[in-house]
Amino acid sequence: MAAFKITGGEPLAGCIEIQGSKNAALPILAAALLHRGVTILYGCPNILDVQYMIKIMRSLGCEIEQEISYLKIDASELNAEHLSRECLGKMRSSILLLGALIGRCGSLTLDYPGGCTIGSRPIDLHLNALKAMGVHIQEKEEQIVCSSNQICGKRIRLPYPSVGATENIIIAAVLAEGVTWIDNAAKEPEIIDLARFLNQMGSCIHGAGTDCIGILGKCSLHDIEYSIMGDRIVAGTYLLAAAGTRGNIEIKGVQIKELQALLHICEEMGCRVQNCGTSIVLDSKHRLFSVKDIHTQPFPGVATDLQSQLMSVLSTARGETTIYEHVFENRFQTAEELGRMGADIQIKNNRAVIRGVKKLKGCPVCAKDLRGGAALIIAGLMAEGDSIVENSIFVERGYQDICKDLKQLGANIKVINGD
Ligand code: UD1
Repeated sequence: MAAFKITGGEPLAGCIEIQGSKNAALPILAAALLHRGVTILYGCPNILDVQYMIKIMRSLGCEIEQEISYLKIDASELNAEHLSRECLGKMRSSILLLGALIGRCGSLTLDYPGGCTIGSRPIDLHLNALKAMGVHIQEKEEQIVCSSNQICGKRIRLPYPSVGATENIIIAAVLAEGVTWIDNAAKEPEIIDLARFLNQMGSCIHGAGTDCIGILGKCSLHDIEYSIMGDRIVAGTYLLAAAGTRGNIEIKGVQIKELQALLHICEEMGCRVQNCGTSIVLDSKHRLFSVKDIHTQPFPGVATDLQSQLMSVLSTARGETTIYEHVFENRFQTAEELGRMGADIQIKNNRAVIRGVKKLKGCPVCAKDLRGGAALIIAGLMAEGDSIVENSIFVERGYQDICKDLKQLGANIKVINGD
């Protein structure tokens, strides 16, 4: 299996344009299935999860042209009976096909979604909402069997602002009869991007980015060209890599308001952050300071997708930091690997206490999930000597070419064939 080999100690420096967002691209790809016509997407990241989604969409009958600069999807003809099961279990976002296909095809059978093992990741919020909208859902041992004669707009209050459930409801509501309201909706920037995409396609969605979203169903949809937003999690990863290596980098293609919670922490750690209009500059000159408690939360709180990377960076900060993980219960898998590199991290339930050590030491470690893998790469960049991060495949699920990006910023990293 392929691995990353990193020689640490080099401060990151330079400027980088951030890839398109994974978490915006996946729901947008699912939403493209709503339109009996052509969608052209720019900035769709070339990552494993997008490849899985494209495979699934092709199996449904979509014609897809994939070029470096764009993705052209013709979803004029769809047949949910041909849905390929091969990739469904490999990614969490396959559940978003439910909202899209039930409206287009009236019935479908889906396998339970897969994805990183960062928690139990139930789908009850998705299914309950769709049931309320008139979708008949039968949960079998391995599959979900769904059918509907007509999806109906409803007022739905989510017990938790789930990103995926909010997206699934929005997508299903576009072809529903009447108006759908989502109360306690997720407010993540990727929800705004999905709504912007669908509105440009002709639908009528208000309130995306707030906790109450209204969707008027059955608007007529048309062909569009759309540019997907930049990936704030990739941006956050690189900013933290610069913070941890005492580097100085400029990133382009994401908006500062999408990273506000992280940037406050970076400042608290002693980094200088500058908003340069279309780019963000982070300068880290000294050993970082620990910070007061960090709590992962839905947007605009600290993103759970940046928690592991924060843990890496704080592992050499001066003093002690406690991180509370409130979103996914199994997201401290990386702590043990960081421990091999000399980090002092104690985990108790959803709390990680990180006591900063002076230096990490390079050694072989193993990625166990996507963001945890990125965190180990950061640790490798910060460490003395060589590190091998096994299981690069996890990282490829969300980072288009992390080696190329980090090399551009001066890092000493390459892909090798591991054991
Ligand atoms: C999305 C992101 C993921 C990010 C997460 C939280 C994508 C493709 N993935 O995942 O990177 O970490 O948001 O910001 O956009 N839950 C339930 N029942 C449900 C759905 C969710 O209990 O039906 C729980 C989950 O187990 C978790 C919490 O709600 O504890 C948040 O999940 P959710 O916001 O739905 O995350 P995803 O959409 O899976």
